[in-house]
Amino acid sequence: MATQNPFENKSTSDSYQSTDLVYSTSAKAILNVFAPDLLQTHAQVVDLGAGTGVSTAEILKYKPAKLTIVEPSMAMLENAASVLGPGIEYIHSSAEKMFEHFDSNVDLIYACNCFHLFQDLASVLASISCTLKPKGFFVFNLTSPAFRFDTLTETQKLAIKANRDFYSALNQLSPNDVLAYTSDLLQKALDGTQTQVYFKDQLEQIFPSVGINLSNYQEQDLEYPSVIQKNIWRMMGQSFTQDQEALSKIIEAIELPSNIAFKQAVFVMQKV
Ligand SMILES: C[S@@+](CC[C@H](N)C(=O)[O-])C[C@H]1O[C@@H](n2cnc3c(N)ncnc32)[C@H](O)[C@@H]1O
Repeated sequence: MATQNPFENKSTSDSYQSTDLVYSTSAKAILNVFAPDLLQTHAQVVDLGAGTGVSTAEILKYKPAKLTIVEPSMAMLENAASVLGPGIEYIHSSAEKMFEHFDSNVDLIYACNCFHLFQDLASVLASISCTLKPKGFFVFNLTSPAFRFDTLTETQKLAIKANRDFYSALNQLSPNDVLAYTSDLLQKALDGTQTQVYFKDQLEQIFPSVGINLSNYQEQDLEYPSVIQKNIWRMMGQSFTQDQEALSKIIEAIELPSNIAFKQAVFVMQKV
């Protein structure tokens, strides 16, 4: 899927906190599907791809016995540690390599807003299976355009259109494969012609190859204020251009409704 991890960049990581509300909206909604009492009773929880710790802060509210962050971007990991402090274990690693740090002793792996960034899905699935205890859970979410929904509302489509306009204008300013790929993918999400994306059926079929099955699934309609969307664009734009003035002009030119509507799919997978 993606060809690089934009979150390696220090300035992206520093400005990530301005978008907290988006990611905490997702993180809270995932926890609504995944029973909190299950979380409380579990000894070992991993927040995979925890970034600056927005999703971790939501998990901490349920007071799990032990919480570990696994994050490949050192910039994000350092920012998470500065916000969350001690009491959490911090591991600089990725989904693909996390199994090296555990002994099939993890009860719950929570991957919020990061599944679409995993580079090598076969390695990730094997690594997750090796990390989990028998009966352990792997919980993650996916949104458009990385996930194919059968239906989207008009307001959800409007948000995708605005993102397509942003990434396409940014690609004209600073041509880059990731930007071209993203705007193309957003257009295909609108046309319903995506192929390089995840489908529920496809995921349900490949997980059992590593002994993990779908235990619960939900599609949720969520929203956040548009000002946050502009912060996200500013943050992502900084990874691709130094020209702040041109970036601001692109962002100002795109009209948005007062709220951004989006849909997320939540998967609760369980190891046999
Ligand atoms: C959009 S952020 C989400 C952060 C946090 N979970 C949240 O909801 O706020 C995506 C995170 O996934 C991380 N990531 C990218 N590739 C990864 C991989 N292969 N394994 C684990 N995490 C990855 C990025 O470094 C980034 O911190």
